[in-house]
Amino acid sequence: MTKFQHFYPLFKPEHYDIYLDIDREAKQFSGKTTITGTATTEKIGIHQKDLAVSEVLANGDLVPYTIDKELDAIWIDLPKSGQTTLDITYSAKLTDTMMGIYPSYYDVDGVKKQLIGTQFETNSARQAFPSIDEPVAKATFSLAIKFDEKDGETIISNMPEEKVVDGVHYFEKTVPMSTYLVAFGFGEMISKTTTTKSGVKVGIFATKAHQAKELDFGLDIAKRSIEFYEDFFQTPYPLPHSWQLGLPDFSAGAMENWGLITYREAYLLVDPDNTSLRMQQIIATVIAHEVAHQWFGDLVTMKWWDDLWLNESFANMMEYVAVDAIEPDWNVWEIFQTSDTPAALERDATDGVQSVYSKVEDPAEVDSLFDSAIVYAKGARMLVMVRALIGDEALRTGLKAYFDKHQYNNTVGADLWSALSDASGINVGAVMKSWLEQPGYPVVSAKVVDGKLVLTQQQFFIGDGKAVGRLWQVPLNSNYDGVPDLMTEKELVIGDYNSLREKEGTAFRLNVGNSSHFIVSYEQTLLDDILNESDQLDAISKLQLLQDLRLLAEGRRISYASLIPLLSQFSDSHSAIVNTALYDIADNLKRFVTPKSEEETTLKAFFHQLSATAYDRLGLEPKKGEPNDDQVTRQEVISAATYADNQAFIADAHRLFEAHTDHLATISASVRPYVLINEVKHFGSKELIDTLLDEYRRSTDASYKASLPAAIGRTENPEEITKIVTLFKDADTIKPQDLRSWFYYILANDQGQQAAWDWIKSNWQWLLDTVGGDMSFTSYITVISRVFKTPERLAEFKAFFEPKLQTPGLTREITMGIKSIESRVTLIADEKDAVNQAVAKAINK
Ligand code: BES
Ligand code: ZN
Repeated sequence: MTKFQHFYPLFKPEHYDIYLDIDREAKQFSGKTTITGTATTEKIGIHQKDLAVSEVLANGDLVPYTIDKELDAIWIDLPKSGQTTLDITYSAKLTDTMMGIYPSYYDVDGVKKQLIGTQFETNSARQAFPSIDEPVAKATFSLAIKFDEKDGETIISNMPEEKVVDGVHYFEKTVPMSTYLVAFGFGEMISKTTTTKSGVKVGIFATKAHQAKELDFGLDIAKRSIEFYEDFFQTPYPLPHSWQLGLPDFSAGAMENWGLITYREAYLLVDPDNTSLRMQQIIATVIAHEVAHQWFGDLVTMKWWDDLWLNESFANMMEYVAVDAIEPDWNVWEIFQTSDTPAALERDATDGVQSVYSKVEDPAEVDSLFDSAIVYAKGARMLVMVRALIGDEALRTGLKAYFDKHQYNNTVGADLWSALSDASGINVGAVMKSWLEQPGYPVVSAKVVDGKLVLTQQQFFIGDGKAVGRLWQVPLNSNYDGVPDLMTEKELVIGDYNSLREKEGTAFRLNVGNSSHFIVSYEQTLLDDILNESDQLDAISKLQLLQDLRLLAEGRRISYASLIPLLSQFSDSHSAIVNTALYDIADNLKRFVTPKSEEETTLKAFFHQLSATAYDRLGLEPKKGEPNDDQVTRQEVISAATYADNQAFIADAHRLFEAHTDHLATISASVRPYVLINEVKHFGSKELIDTLLDEYRRSTDASYKASLPAAIGRTENPEEITKIVTLFKDADTIKPQDLRSWFYYILANDQGQQAAWDWIKSNWQWLLDTVGGDMSFTSYITVISRVFKTPERLAEFKAFFEPKLQTPGLTREITMGIKSIESRVTLIADEKDAVNQAVAKAINK
């Protein structure tokens, strides 16, 4: 580990005056930053990265300084400690790393253009201005920015512009805030604005490559989210405006800069004439997530990154609370159940996973904290447990008190628990400690022993795992009265099973609503009891049953083959979430068959059996006024029909394609990916791939663009595959921000896997240089470990990645990757035959 030091104890900044002069042509900027604050010692460290510092003054006098590359610092020798004003003059380059101040590239009618934006979280503010770049070091900021300005350009920042003098744009002084939330952007833009009930100006901005109508959806959701939170938190939005800016190059999904939220275009802009409902729902949750951060994260901020969950887990829960409130018909909690929940349960079952609260010092490790399955999904699940435990009233009262007490300041986890405990009278911190500070989660086994119902908790693992006797405080949420709310011990004896069963008149269940972070292993008689009543189960309970059983099979507690009859049992469901869970399992069965084998043909027939009736019912094209569930279910069903080579579907999809050859983008968005995949799969040609690649280069509709690599990546033609892989480094075609999904599609294609794997091995250094700073860089490793399934690939994975185990930030992902491939390889070896027999048996029925 590199040495590491906090600088805030040495110097406490109060205010920054930042002047920047940015030259896009020359790709560089010069700056002068004046920091006033208090030095507690005579030698202070100030963060900087890649800044060429030419002069440092302290209280008006030149002072000696040294640059420390390892710590990203300038060490400054002050004549004395105490109140100090520092003037630091410097220059730096604009780089294409999507970090710090950086250009985004796009073109309008063939003319190449740039939009300048910023991305400072977690530690890139120091690339733009010298600062104490730690979340605890809150200060006020006055920005003054000059750039090679042309007519018709706009510049926006956290605060409104105050004045322009000699081409310098001066922005109003901010409230006290952390460095990582400072932001600005400039270039040619289109925009729309509106005002909330309480008078906050809300705006949305994008490049001129987009049409004005693409702005409406995002603007409306942003406005209504702010109104929702102002009411829910009983705390006003504290700034004059809330701008949303879509950037053509963006490493994360979106970023909550205070007053100027930045987005990947795909997560902000919506073509109202053709965007799938699911995509609209996702975009709404992204916006609501970043808007939630304006309170949780911006107004009150974690002291240090170890408490990152205070930001991200909270925003991840609130995005669903908010969207559920503003668009109740969408039932967005269902998305939580089909995406966040399984992601958390899957990853949190791998030994070596981090806990939600995770100590971190090395800056290279900070970004690896942003594990979407843990800090986001598991953390949100944890807070959903809290919400269920204390109720919305106490949650709101507690949060209001928390904001009142800590606004413009920093907190640790205990501050939140104490606010919520005071409001609810429940010792929330004690319950949550076991979830927050320990990795993993329990499987609760329910058995009847000597006539008594007995529950036991034990850590659940997929793959090798070392049991170290961890226990959790488990909210049981049973449907039976006599069961305690909380299980705190290893074993719990409930009482006489038969009399309980008789009294309740229904099967015994735990974790009703699936809001607690554990899974249940019912012994066979108890499970049969539930399955016999399965018609009476609601959709969430069915989904949960399927999900839990799938996990138990991955964890080798039950056989994979035993899941297969359940798929047939639930395949007539009209519920989107049940179908999602069902096809998750079905898709996993593909691992057990060799491509082009007889087993594959049998599995395809099974897919046909599962999906054909539903396909006949739903048809290929969405119908006006159909239930939301049908629209989402159709996507699952036609994806299955694609694998099944369903002839009716193949013909329908081809017909639809042919009818739209001149305007493919207008194929209904919710089925467009499958129509394109079908075309590549069954009617593919060199010309088709070229057409689709052209479409990809030309389109500015992000959701259409996202469907193209999914289709192009299905080609089985070696020459086309080679051509695509050559494009991986061609930023004019594939932007670095989108490369991971291209890489994934080729890797997951049996015919492309070798080419993609060879490519990443030979271009690892290039990849590190290009996107190595991204918060989600490690997901390149995750993607590979999700796809590989043979002993040969496992050995190759180890040979390539094991030598990189010591690289800060990669260690965990490599270790977990190896474990997850290992467990898949063993599972396949052990259960392949049984699974294939069960599939064959299911289609003969
Ligand atoms: N604060 C994060 C973005 C971020 C994380 C930037 C780490 C830099 C380093 C933002 O609030 C966020 O969580 N974005 C998500 C999307 C969100 C809706 C789940 C993302 O970018 O994936
Ligand atoms: Zn976030």
